[in-house]
Amino acid sequence: MTDLQAVLDSIHTELQPRIGEGKVADYIPELAKIDPAQFGLSVVTVDGKVYSVGDAAVPFSIQSISKVFMLTLALGKVGEGLWKRVGREPSGNAFNSIVQLEQEAGIPRNPFINAGAIAVADVVLAGHEPREAIGEVLRFVRYLADDETVTIDDKVARSETQTGYRNFALANFMRAYKNIDHPVEHVLGVYFHQCALSMSCEQLARAGLFLAARGANPMTGHSVVSPKRARRINALMLTCGHYDGSGDFAYHVGLPGKSGVGGGIFAVAPGIASIAVWSPGLNRVGNSQLGAVALEMLAGRTGWSVF
Ligand code: DON
Repeated sequence: MTDLQAVLDSIHTELQPRIGEGKVADYIPELAKIDPAQFGLSVVTVDGKVYSVGDAAVPFSIQSISKVFMLTLALGKVGEGLWKRVGREPSGNAFNSIVQLEQEAGIPRNPFINAGAIAVADVVLAGHEPREAIGEVLRFVRYLADDETVTIDDKVARSETQTGYRNFALANFMRAYKNIDHPVEHVLGVYFHQCALSMSCEQLARAGLFLAARGANPMTGHSVVSPKRARRINALMLTCGHYDGSGDFAYHVGLPGKSGVGGGIFAVAPGIASIAVWSPGLNRVGNSQLGAVALEMLAGRTGWSVF
């Protein structure tokens, strides 16, 4: 049996001289203020043990990682009907790209690129006021994490509302194709607030544990989704979770994973553990530089690659 705490400690020690590498996201002004010299890593195993190193208890902006929870919520609401609104193929383009939307009649390639996540937010909105939908999202994530202290950082949400020109463009474009039902401001209200969820590595790994454990959280006993749905969400994370860096992530790490521009990465070792890593400095394709390195080390040392 691998001594997981020793593995985490060794990764932390070896990465120590590199902490601060990469460039923090600056297109959302509130994120540009984050100190890049932070690193946290948590692993929660399906038997309920928690292993952590570094800044694993420090909350950070989970950004696009929220798209996994939103996809789970939307599938719960409309089931497989969701796939009329959004595809299941990797885009091969940047997360905020608009180019395929016109070529493909306003149907985003997958639920993890921004356009796809905005369509998913429209589904979650489901005729409600944005504040009600945002409340539902927050309650759902607190339930998954079994932690009432999870919050949404309103400053981050406001910062992005003021500067999210590309997301407004994507949403308006899809509305023109009738793939957005609600007013664009309402849909983006939900989207910007889900992205502004503030969670620590420990909270995130707990919240995602159901994806490692056939759809049920073994720590709480909550059954979240069916085993089949958990498998399918993992398949989408593997193929699309890192945008145009998904192939590279699968090659180096070999686990379903979802990144966020706050520097977090959530990953799943099916049947074994859920993992959250955070280091704010990003690499060329906008994923956490040290986060990806740490996950490659973890997968290499534990043999957890799905391949
Ligand atoms: O919409 C955006 O641009 C951000 N709220 C989220 C982007 C993101 O996290 C991309 N992930 N690597």
